[in-house]
Amino acid sequence: MPKIAVIKGFSKLDKYQKMLKLANFYSSPDETIELLESFWHNNPSIQKTFEEFSENTLTNYFLPFGVAPNFLINNKTYIVPMVIEESSVVAAAANSARFWIDRGGFSSEVLSVIKVGQVHFIWEGDPDALKNAFPSIKKRLLDGTRHLTANMETRGGGILGLELHDERDKIPGYYQLMATFDTRDAMGANFINSCLEEFATILKNQISENELLSAYECKVIMAILSNYTPECLVSTKVECKISDLHGIDDSMTTDEFVWKFEKAVQIASADVFRATTHNKGIFNGIDAVVLASGNDFRATEACGHAYAARSGQYRSLTELKLDGGIFSYSLTLPLAIGTVGGLTNLHPLAKFSLQLLDNPSSKQLMMIASAVGLANNFSAIKSLITKGIQTGHMKMHLLNILNVMGASDSEKARAVDFFKSHKVSHKAVAGFLTQYRNS
Ligand code: MEV
Repeated sequence: MPKIAVIKGFSKLDKYQKMLKLANFYSSPDETIELLESFWHNNPSIQKTFEEFSENTLTNYFLPFGVAPNFLINNKTYIVPMVIEESSVVAAAANSARFWIDRGGFSSEVLSVIKVGQVHFIWEGDPDALKNAFPSIKKRLLDGTRHLTANMETRGGGILGLELHDERDKIPGYYQLMATFDTRDAMGANFINSCLEEFATILKNQISENELLSAYECKVIMAILSNYTPECLVSTKVECKISDLHGIDDSMTTDEFVWKFEKAVQIASADVFRATTHNKGIFNGIDAVVLASGNDFRATEACGHAYAARSGQYRSLTELKLDGGIFSYSLTLPLAIGTVGGLTNLHPLAKFSLQLLDNPSSKQLMMIASAVGLANNFSAIKSLITKGIQTGHMKMHLLNILNVMGASDSEKARAVDFFKSHKVSHKAVAGFLTQYRNS
């Protein structure tokens, strides 16, 4: 096995030293440093803010910040900010928003806003003794975290519930403190984790000080929020008369379109391979809003996919109802996102995004993000069951291909014109450029 060189003390180096270390791995270190520096913000204080979001920061990694206008959600229109690198996603959301604005828009409701956290511990003593002692331990746990919860309580939130879960059928001696929280407009991770760590300390003390329990040590394994929040749920739908879908695609009748759409949704419910892609398309839109608003897209993705598998089989997150001549298409998923705290107030563009959305509450942001997810999915299904996604996708991707091939502005303009009536592929674009350059 080749010997791997360990870099010692890297985090202690200053930014320039880190860049130098890295640049030496490249054939032209000076150019490498120039490249990294070229993406620094020209305002040093903004640059510093970005660097302090994370560790070992050398430069910034840009992603496009776009907007999708015409989102009518619960009778209010929004221009929705979206941060995403994939071509077609913003266009697909915007097309869908434009389509539905003439048909009543999106109606959305937040069904619940409960967050979850757990203290996982092992205790090998008499289960009944622990269960009997729990009411008094619980009081101590809640009293002992008042200093952490007071502020949240003045905002109307706090700890909603605290239970002892006996999980010994899974792992010998395994119990959980299962806590539920209302974190108001914050995503609440820091608040929840602080409460849980305090619970863990108090729990250990309570068990060691109780003469009926102290014969066995309480071994706390970990105290951490759960990103699975099946009761932080938002449901969004679009609905119209089937006849109002008339003309949605000129290659088929409205009835054919609806029949194919229904089959596509059924397939996404029945088949895990398709369900994954179907749900990925939903998260194209949701992640883009989650990122633009400074929220944690890893958390919302993990939660959404776990929720999609709640029946024991991973399924589509959307549902289609066709009753009485009405086309009703909905998306229901958990979305634990916030509009205060974390990056939402620190990242200048997250702030800008929230202002663009008229400073929404976390519930309003849940409704907006889920509407965009549904919009993207509707557009995807519409394309897939009609002309396929590649025509539109490759048209959008054309500029990326041209950029990779080093096309000049005038070459790009000619290519965009040419490919209005030709099929885009890498080969076709390369052929076009060669011919154009030779002529
Ligand atoms: C591509 O990013 C997303 C789609 O594959 C989603 C889908 O297939 O439903 C188009």
